[in-house]
Amino acid sequence: MISEKMQKALNDQIQAEMFSSYLYLSMSACFNSVNMDGMAQWMKVQSREENGHAMKIYSYLIERGGKVELQAIEKPQTTWATPLDAFKDAYKHELYITGRINDLVKLAYDEGDIATLTFLQWFVTEQVEEEANASKIVAMLEMIGESKNGLFMMDHNLGKRE
Ligand code: FEO
Repeated sequence: MISEKMQKALNDQIQAEMFSSYLYLSMSACFNSVNMDGMAQWMKVQSREENGHAMKIYSYLIERGGKVELQAIEKPQTTWATPLDAFKDAYKHELYITGRINDLVKLAYDEGDIATLTFLQWFVTEQVEEEANASKIVAMLEMIGESKNGLFMMDHNLGKRE
């Protein structure tokens, strides 16, 4: 049986992952509205991944005899001036999520909850990848600058994500 404290923290993380999903879907819609369909596709896949993260915690909580309590998801930002702005925000958001995962690890450790500690290892590894992906795209967009050709190519490449 999972502790009340850990259960609350994991429920909060379900909300954070659902918000991530919502935020990236909002970025996807923004990209679609300016015909950057490749970047929109990349963000849509990312949004689906975040939903998967939330569901992973959802299933784990139930498996541990805990109770899932879904919470309200706030309205995300809906427009970004440039692709660089959006991906910078995505990167910033991933840093925030990493911080949250680290706090969960600390809590599991303090609670002596070895099962949750082990469960969270997947998220620790995942965050390394998530941060790297977003920061690489930010760096590339910074390199491209105002180049329309560069943006066109980048949009095409990001659209290959499945
Ligand atoms: Fe679920 Fe992008 O962290």
